[in-house]
Amino acid sequence: MKIAEIINLERYPLNKLDSNEGVEFIGSIRESMQHDGSCTLDQFVSDATRLEMVEQADSLVEFAFPGPSEVSPYFFNYRIGEQYKSDDRHPTQRKGRRNLSQVAADLIPPEHLLYQLYRSPLMTDFLGRVLQVPVYRNQDRYQSLNISVMDSGGCQQWHFDGGNMVTTLLLQAPEAGGVFEYVPNIRTDENENFDMVRSVLDGESSRVKSLNLKPGTLSLFRGHYSLHRVTEVAGLVRRLQAILGYNTQPNFAGSLDSSILHYGPRIADLENSVAG
Ligand SMILES: [Fe+2]
Repeated sequence: MKIAEIINLERYPLNKLDSNEGVEFIGSIRESMQHDGSCTLDQFVSDATRLEMVEQADSLVEFAFPGPSEVSPYFFNYRIGEQYKSDDRHPTQRKGRRNLSQVAADLIPPEHLLYQLYRSPLMTDFLGRVLQVPVYRNQDRYQSLNISVMDSGGCQQWHFDGGNMVTTLLLQAPEAGGVFEYVPNIRTDENENFDMVRSVLDGESSRVKSLNLKPGTLSLFRGHYSLHRVTEVAGLVRRLQAILGYNTQPNFAGSLDSSILHYGPRIADLENSVAG
């Protein structure tokens, strides 16, 4: 399938961003990002494309790894919490429940539509224009493109993303729950704003926004600065979401320790066999 058949270009002119229509489109996305800290593009892929993506994702679910079940909002960035170790109510010391499995990038074959979408230059060009700086694909063998799998009871704790331009594509929505909740721009590069993060972890919801996404929706979201979570999934239909990792730094890659934890011991075996 060609990229023009994967992305709904009639609705979203990623292939003609220099045209008036394209400039207007980018302007509306930038406005939404500034105002809401997010932007959702529904029907970003057609139903037929999405269903094929679901079928391909389903064929990989048996290889998805559950990873850790209790995680801090800051994941494994231990440096950030070192000085707060004596305060077990501090946001860096708190852990929330995580119940999901992930398919790592190295398991998604080139013929899969998600792989083709992720690697399309239309995507990096598009995101670069939204952020007004060049955007690159993450260069991490495992973390660059993931499929998140949540069955009934699945959820993800409040957290910040590592990469600074993570986008998601919802492939399949559950019968109930699985709602994406976030607090836009709660921290900056200069200020962690721990007091406000702490209040959200304690249940303060006045700044929490939620997105009840439809399948086929691409979400742009500043997850490095906006605390976010996925509420518990219910029902028989599994939630399937693709996570497309882009970054404003070229050659961005995550840590190997984090990959081993999230994608399982096979990663350590693979790396040892490469090193050996
Ligand atoms: Fe995230």
